[in-house]
Formats: sequence, structure tokens, C-alpha cells
Amino acid sequence: MAALPLLLALLIRGMASAAHHPRLPRHRPSCHMVQMSVVVCSNLSLTGAPVNLPPGIETLDLSHNQVQNLTRDTLAYRTDLRHLNLHSNKIHFIQPGLFEDMTNLKILDLSRNHLNVFALTKNKIGTLAAVETLDLSSNGLYTGMSDFLIADSPSLVELSLNSNSITKIAQNTFRGALSLRKVSLHNNVILEIEDGAFDSLDCLTELDLSKNSITCITDFNLSRLKVLNLSKNSLEIFQSTRLTDVYDLVFLDLSENKLPCFPLLPANNSIQHLDLSRNQLQSVNMTDTPERKTHVVLNHLRYLDLSYNQLKDIPQSFFHTMTSLEVLNVSNNCIDSFLIVDKDLLPAVKIINLNYNSLQRLSFGEATLQSLKELLLRGNDLSTLEQQTLQRLPSLNLLQLQENNLRVCPWDTKPCPSDHNRLHPPDCVYFSCIPNLKYLYLSQNNLKSLPFSAFADTPLTLLDLSLNPGLEMHPDSLSGLEHTLVHLFLRENNISKLNTELSSLRSLRLVDLSTNQLTSLPAWSKESSIETLNLHNNSLVTLEHSTMIALERSLKTLYVGSNPLSCCGNLGFLHLVQHSTVVVPDIETVTCLLREDSEPVNIEKVSREMCHSPKKVNYIIVVVVFVLFAMIMSGLMVKYCKSRKRKHVRRFIA
Ligand SMILES: *[C@@H]1O[C@H](CO)[C@@H](O)[C@H](O)[C@H]1NC(C)=O
Ligand SMILES: *[C@@H]1O[C@H](CO)[C@@H](O)[C@H](O)[C@H]1NC(C)=O
Ligand SMILES: *[C@@H]1O[C@H](CO)[C@@H](O)[C@H](O)[C@H]1NC(C)=O
Ligand SMILES: *[C@@H]1O[C@H](CO)[C@@H](O)[C@H](O)[C@H]1NC(C)=O
Repeated sequence: MAALPLLLALLIRGMASAAHHPRLPRHRPSCHMVQMSVVVCSNLSLTGAPVNLPPGIETLDLSHNQVQNLTRDTLAYRTDLRHLNLHSNKIHFIQPGLFEDMTNLKILDLSRNHLNVFALTKNKIGTLAAVETLDLSSNGLYTGMSDFLIADSPSLVELSLNSNSITKIAQNTFRGALSLRKVSLHNNVILEIEDGAFDSLDCLTELDLSKNSITCITDFNLSRLKVLNLSKNSLEIFQSTRLTDVYDLVFLDLSENKLPCFPLLPANNSIQHLDLSRNQLQSVNMTDTPERKTHVVLNHLRYLDLSYNQLKDIPQSFFHTMTSLEVLNVSNNCIDSFLIVDKDLLPAVKIINLNYNSLQRLSFGEATLQSLKELLLRGNDLSTLEQQTLQRLPSLNLLQLQENNLRVCPWDTKPCPSDHNRLHPPDCVYFSCIPNLKYLYLSQNNLKSLPFSAFADTPLTLLDLSLNPGLEMHPDSLSGLEHTLVHLFLRENNISKLNTELSSLRSLRLVDLSTNQLTSLPAWSKESSIETLNLHNNSLVTLEHSTMIALERSLKTLYVGSNPLSCCGNLGFLHLVQHSTVVVPDIETVTCLLREDSEPVNIEKVSREMCHSPKKVNYIIVVVVFVLFAMIMSGLMVKYCKSRKRKHVRRFIA
């Protein structure tokens, strides 16, 4: 190892400099000391550890180097290390027994090496006396090879074999590592798990088998497991047959498999998180055969994801035991009707995601779903809701109804809570008197009209009415929102004139009117507190001076590109852009016309002076003609003088 003395010199210089002042870029790269006991020698093309590290080093980072043969020599043999990182080297040989005397070594990272080559030599690395965390991921290991590496690992608690090529977990795979608590086998090609492969691991609580090729688990019996990840396999069956045992399972990820029906879970479980998204579920039936009616109790369940399946309906009985459920995701299925009528159902649910189904009917009974905060109904076929559905949800804060087919009911004059049932037409939805609703999304609903006081007594702060082309808004449609509404979206509505009163909305900070046909601005008074106004892509020729003055006080951001603005008709606006603190993010596209038939010019290039003489072009011609005339005249004068001079001289000579 001729390189070692040099490395040592570099190391010591590096450490000396690191201790006193930051390393300068001109220094040759070297190991550096991060803290008293941590040395980092990453990315230095080293083939081994520097020979004489000072004593007391506990962590040595040799990742991203060229170590090939891991021996006492290359490791500059030392027994005091606690944490050795050899990630991303080229290790294909480990001296047997190397780690035997390293009784402090707790964390060993051998990921991204070539330990498959070592395993082929049929040598064993020997005892990993103290190692608790071992990373063997990305080593090209296939079935049985880990035997040579972990055969004697009495202290091993956490093992990663991620991203190898293991196809089978045999009965004896973990025989030498009986203290294991967490095993990760993500991204292998596991097809088979032998019966009892994990049985001897009494402490095993976390098992990651995600991204493998497992097709069925017919007798899930690891009752002490807390976390099981089987995401991204090809599971068609998951069942637990010992239904009366008590299971500790808390987290079960079965997403991205091919399950055609609900897994048969242990009846007595602690499952809090169950992910069944992206399977082929057609029903949520929890019993395998009609004769055997075991009652699976899911009273610990807090998160249930059934999105991206083929469910057509979910019977209310499915939810009977789910008294702790907080998040229910059934988005992207084919559900056409969703009913929760019994008031004891889902008492803790906070989020129900029903986006992208084919819902036509939604009904919540009286006093149900009292904790519901977010109801997501985007992309359905709703044209109406059961009466009072929304008014009965005291915690509802966010409601997504984009891409439906709703009509908005007009306010009836009775005070809240009134008996709406009788009065409002059945083919529309009431948005007034929803006691805590703050965020309402109604874009792409083909809304034709927005009646008077449509949101009265609903404390909306955000209202999105975009993408409803042709929407007719009653002048007082937003009345009632004076003190709450902060964000208003009216994008792509084909509005040519906004006749709705916006200046009384005292809390309004953001208004998006982009991509409409506006020819004039809505009137705003001096009390306006609008900070962001989006007028991009409209038909505005002039921005009324009085409105701009009223806005200037609070306005911070203005989008106004892609409008046929007139340059000289907007000198007030020009001033605003050039001299005030208003930011115009789309300034590149803000052009104006100096004259009706002229090319658009960028507003930043326009000056007041260009507008002072309307006959600017003629003026230029006059100047040019005058200058030309002056030049010709002076030319003639010079010529005349010269010729006179010449004559004079000639005469003088003569
Ligand atoms: C690794 O080093 C040891 C000791 O120096 C030597 O005996 C062995 O042949 C080397 N193995 C390889 C594969 O280079
Ligand atoms: C389970 O595995 C999938 C796929 O690797 C991953 O996306 C998910 O986060 C994992 N879940 C947990 C809790 O680790
Ligand atoms: C299901 O919906 C919940 C709540 O909206 C969300 O957090 C989760 O990411 C969704 N799941 C998938 C797979 O999109
Ligand atoms: C937009 O409004 C114009 C008239 O203002 C009308 O001719 C056109 O059909 C409208 N487009 C849509 C999609 O409603």
C-alpha cells in the first residue's frame, strides 16, 4: 500500500485545517473530521482506510471509494469503531473473522458493493459480534447468499437486503440473527416464503416486502408484527386463517397488488393504517364464505385507503366497527351512491375522499359525521344533494365539488336554520348556512347562474367559481361574504362585464379574473384591500384611472398580460408599473398599442413622451427633412466657400 503514507499526510493536513478553519477549495481533497469522533473520507478514490487515524474515532465514513478487499490491512485495523460506512465501494472480499473483535461496531453499512462475488467463494464473514444495524442492499445477492453474511449475528436488530435479487425466503434464512426486529426486503424478486421462515424471530415487528413478486399469502400468522409492507407485489390473496389469535399489526400496506376482494384480516387486530389502493377490489365484503361469518373488528383503524379500485358501492354495514376512522379514501372507483344514515357510523372521520367516482346520490343523515372536516367530491355526476346534507355537518371546513353538474340554490328569506326542505327547489344545492365551511370549490360545474346571497351565513374565505363559461352572477350573489372572503377565483368564465359588487368585500385579498372577456374593470373603492389581481388574457383596452388609484394603496401583484391595452390611454397604469411597488409577474406579455393599427409594444418600452404628440411620426419626418435640408445647405455652403477660397488662392498665386 504505497499510497498510504501519502494519504496519511493528506489526512493529517486535512484534519488540522478542518479543525481551525474551513477547507479551502484549492486544497487537495482529504479526509476531514466533522466532530471529535467522526471522520469523513467520502469520495476520495481510497482503496482502504487511512492508517493512523487518531484514537477515539467512533464513526468512519469511507463511502464512495474504491475499496475492493476488506481486510485488517485495508481497514487499518482498529477495534474502537462504532459506525463504519462502506456504502458504494467495490468490495468483493471480506477477510473472514474481520469483525469478530470489533466489539463496539454497532452500525455497518455495506450497501452498494459486490458481495455476491464474496458469497460465491463460500466463505463466511464470521461473527458480527455487536452489529445491530446492517445494510446489505444493492449487492447483487440472490437466494441463500445472505447466509454467508449474517450466519452469526446475535445482536442484529435491523437488516436491509433491499434491491438484491432474492427469490425465496427459506426457513433458515434468518437462523443466525434471532434478535431481528426490522427486516427490509424491498425491491427483490421474492416469489416464495417458506412456511415458518420468520417464526423463530420472536422480536420481529417490522417487515418490508414491498416491490416483490409475491402472489398469495394464505396464512398470515405473524401475530407480533406491527408493520407489514406488501405494496407493489402481485397479491391475489391475503388471508389470515388463525382468526381468533390476537394480532399486534398496526400498519398494513397492500397497495398496488391484484386483490379482487377485501383481505381476510385477523378478527382481533390493532390495525390503524390499511392501504388497499390500486388493487382490483370489486367489493368490501369481509368474510370469505357466507357460512363463516367472523366479525372482523376494525375499531383501531384510523386510515383506510380504497382508492383506485373497482368498487361499485360500499354498504353502510362495512363501517360498523370503524369508530376511530379519521381518513377514508374511496376516490377513483365507480361508486354511484354513498349513504351514511346511522348517526353512530364514522363518528371520528375527518376526511372523506370520494373524488372521481360516478356519484349521483350522496346522503348523510341527521347528526352523522359530526367530525367531518374535508369532503372531496370532485369529478362526479352530482346535480343535487340530499337536502340539508351540508348544513348538518358542523365541522365541515373544505368542500371540493369541481367537475360536477350542480346548480346553486337561491337564498330563501327565512333566518337560519330554516326549514329549507319545503322551500328550495329540489334540483339545486344550498350553500348558505354551512356553519364552518371556509373553502369551497365549484369550478367546472357548468354553472349558469349564481343567485342572490348564495353563500349567506357560510363563512367562506375561498371561493372558486372558475371554468363555468357563461356564468351569470347576480349583483348581490356574494353578499354575506363581506367580512370573510379572501380568495375569489373566476378564471375562464367568459365574463365580459362583472356586475357583481366586489368592493364591499372588505377582506378580499386575491381576485383571479384571468381568461375572460372583460372590457372594463369592476369598480373598486378606496377601502379595497386587494393584494393580488389577475387580469391576464382579457379584452381590456383601458384600466380606469380611478380604479387603479383605488387599488394602488393595497395592490402588490398584478397580472395584466395578453390584453389589447392602449399605451396612451393608460398613462396612470404606466406610472403604476414604472414607479410603484406593484409587481407585474407577467410583464413580458404586457403589451400595448400606440395607435390602433400599430404593432404592440412592450409596456416597459413606452414613455409618456411618446404619447404627448399624437402626430409623432409626422414630427419625425419633419425633423428628418429639416436635418436633410440643413445638411444639403451646409454642404452647398462649404462647397461655395471652398471654391471661392480656391479661386482666391489661385488668384493670389497667380
Ligand atoms: C484480499 O487480501 C487478502 C490479504 O491481503 C489476500 O489474502 C486475498 O487474496 C485478497 N483477496 C482478493 C480477492 O483480492
Ligand atoms: C411501503 O412500500 C412502498 C413501496 O416501496 C412505499 O411507497 C411506502 O412508503 C411503504 N410504506 C411504509 C410505511 O414504509
Ligand atoms: C387518498 O386520499 C387521502 C385524503 O385525501 C390522501 O391523503 C391520499 O394520498 C389518497 N391516496 C391516494 C393513493 O391517492
Ligand atoms: C362567450 O361569450 C360570447 C359573447 O359574449 C358568446 O358569443 C360565446 O358563445 C360565449 N362562449 C361560451 C363558451 O359561453
